[in-house]
Amino acid sequence: MKTFLYPGSFDPPTLGHEDIALRAGALCDRLIVAVMDNAQKSRHLFDAQQRVEMLRELFSDVPNITVVRSEGLLADLCRESGADAVVRGLRNAADLSQEMLMASVNARIGDVETIFFATRDAFANISSSVVRELLSYGRDVSAFIPEKIRHCIHDDR
Ligand code: COA
Repeated sequence: MKTFLYPGSFDPPTLGHEDIALRAGALCDRLIVAVMDNAQKSRHLFDAQQRVEMLRELFSDVPNITVVRSEGLLADLCRESGADAVVRGLRNAADLSQEMLMASVNARIGDVETIFFATRDAFANISSSVVRELLSYGRDVSAFIPEKIRHCIHDDR
């Protein structure tokens, strides 16, 4: 049984995240989506519980995807959950350099395998930080958020 782990801060989850999770989930038996902390993003718009709930609702119809919250190290979560590989999406060269660093550290400290998915063209310019900025100006962000969880974003603002 192959288990992949898709970690992120998901603040909030976007169409890009949904696409990566569904494509990764189709290639393994079990996909664990993990809401984790990024040390470079200390202030969140949505708290961890809200992000977990949004992701659970988003993937409620996908039987092999489960959503967890972890405040620890990715390498530790991989070991504890028996994941065979970590999944990350790549949009551009800037993502690549950052992701190569993370993959290398995780391989070194936990023997973690990382699989990169090329982001679909349609989602290459979507980012959670753009969504957060638009929300701070009271703008509609429906174009970037999966339909199923749009109500969580707008109900909450
Ligand atoms: N399409 C469009 N956008 C995408 C995307 C895709 N397929 N995949 C990612 N993105 C965007 C997100 O919207 C987000 O944009 P933003 O930076 O403007 O907010 C960005 O890419 C990446 O965010 P996300 O994927 O949600 O997570 P992250 O990069 O913040 O996650 C962790 C990083 C949490 C996985 C990492 O910090 C971690 O492993 N933390 C645990 C502690 C640890 O082990 N630290 C050591 C790491 S070496």
